[in-house]
Amino acid sequence: MSNLYVTFGKKIDTYTFILENNLFGVRPPLVDNNKNIIVEFSSPNIAKPFHIGHLRSTIIGNCIANLNSFLKNEVTKINYLGDWGTQFGYVYIGMKMKNIDNIEMHTDPIKTLYTSYVDANKLAESNPNIHEHAKEIFRQLEFEDDEVYKNWEKIKQFTVLELEKTYKRLSVKFDQYEWESMYTAKKVNKIINKMEEMQLLKLDNKNRKAIAVSEEKNVPIMKSDGTSLYISRDITAAIDRFERHKFDTMYYIVENGQTDHFNNLIQILHKLNLTWADRLKHVKFGRVHGMSTRKGTAVFLEDILNKAKEIMKQRQLEAKTTKIPLDKLDESSDILGVSGVIIQDLKQNRMNNYKFDWDLMLNMKGDSGIKLQYTHCRLCSLEELSDATLVTECDSALLKEPEVDQLILLISQFDEVVLKSYEELEPSINMAWHKLTIKNEPKDLGNQRLLLFHTAKIILAQSMKLLGLTPLEKM
Ligand code: ARG
Repeated sequence: MSNLYVTFGKKIDTYTFILENNLFGVRPPLVDNNKNIIVEFSSPNIAKPFHIGHLRSTIIGNCIANLNSFLKNEVTKINYLGDWGTQFGYVYIGMKMKNIDNIEMHTDPIKTLYTSYVDANKLAESNPNIHEHAKEIFRQLEFEDDEVYKNWEKIKQFTVLELEKTYKRLSVKFDQYEWESMYTAKKVNKIINKMEEMQLLKLDNKNRKAIAVSEEKNVPIMKSDGTSLYISRDITAAIDRFERHKFDTMYYIVENGQTDHFNNLIQILHKLNLTWADRLKHVKFGRVHGMSTRKGTAVFLEDILNKAKEIMKQRQLEAKTTKIPLDKLDESSDILGVSGVIIQDLKQNRMNNYKFDWDLMLNMKGDSGIKLQYTHCRLCSLEELSDATLVTECDSALLKEPEVDQLILLISQFDEVVLKSYEELEPSINMAWHKLTIKNEPKDLGNQRLLLFHTAKIILAQSMKLLGLTPLEKM
């Protein structure tokens, strides 16, 4: 329960709150946490475009990680990159076809890997041998064949460097990059052996080793040629992570479409008698429409962020009220564009599908990230222009207007909203913030009003940071 309970008749708690927050920075609601939490999120596949589902995972995952840290849990953020499976045989063939060297990989790894994948797939349409060849290359990778495997290591390094540039724009920082390729057939085999010992495995009609998770359902976990599957790598990864981190909870922020996969994963861990299996939680989310493109032309995350930035830059150039010097415009329009993208996503309930809408997303009016930034900037400039003094005593007798009560109510909901988001893993943005009106001119505001607005400002800024935004002071 929130330690802040405010009614109009009971303002005093809020005033204490206002003061404490001014003196000590925004303090988190008091909860007895100290849990060891893993948040696995983003997790794109390195030869395929970072699609909008990965963007949702990145935004939601980052916010869940922020909330957990704010509430004093120990948080490890993991990005689990998909770099394994027959598809990577295709990538390899595509690279060989075009003699792609490390320099090219170095300058534009993500797009280079993707074009290689697309090229090899095109070739496979007319040449059926390619698929077999791709499988063979993947088999070599699985068994850690020297040359192929070493090359792969380089490709991975370049990719991380490139991804980090984009994550930086989103203020996302991972503690660990982990790879499906950490869980090669060798490592998976240890667990398969254990399953054999426990007599959990049968051969299915494709000669794959499968485990029965229920009467009707067999889940294949090893292919007939001895290569691993997505699920077998996840089983091995979960066990490995538990050994390393002894986590209390591990969240997987992954789209709704993988619900079966995660249910299977948890059930299989139960079959292995691992008592911590229920500490795994699949945090799912709906789809985004309106971003699909013609075949072969993928939407890259970087391109989305660039477009949002360009639109915001143009608007800032055209607006007469812009307070940013020209040479700083690039930076602020990037932050604004990113804010638009993040809030468009977080204002939805996780499970909702939504339509990607550039206009709504970057609109100054309405429930947008731009509006939140604008509100924060107004509060900053109000404070800057005001000649009142920021006092440390709160005198409730002076704050009488109904607008004041509304604002206090909003401020007082901070704890409750944070705790609710934490419990339900729903950011649930309170858009009432954008109704915050500052009617009086600074000269009419007394010290008490300044104190109130100052508190509103720091609470708003803290909330924006939790959502993954960088609060701007001017725009
Ligand atoms: N790379 C996967 C994909 O793009 C998502 C990985 C999710 N995490 C996991 N542990 N399976 O579909």
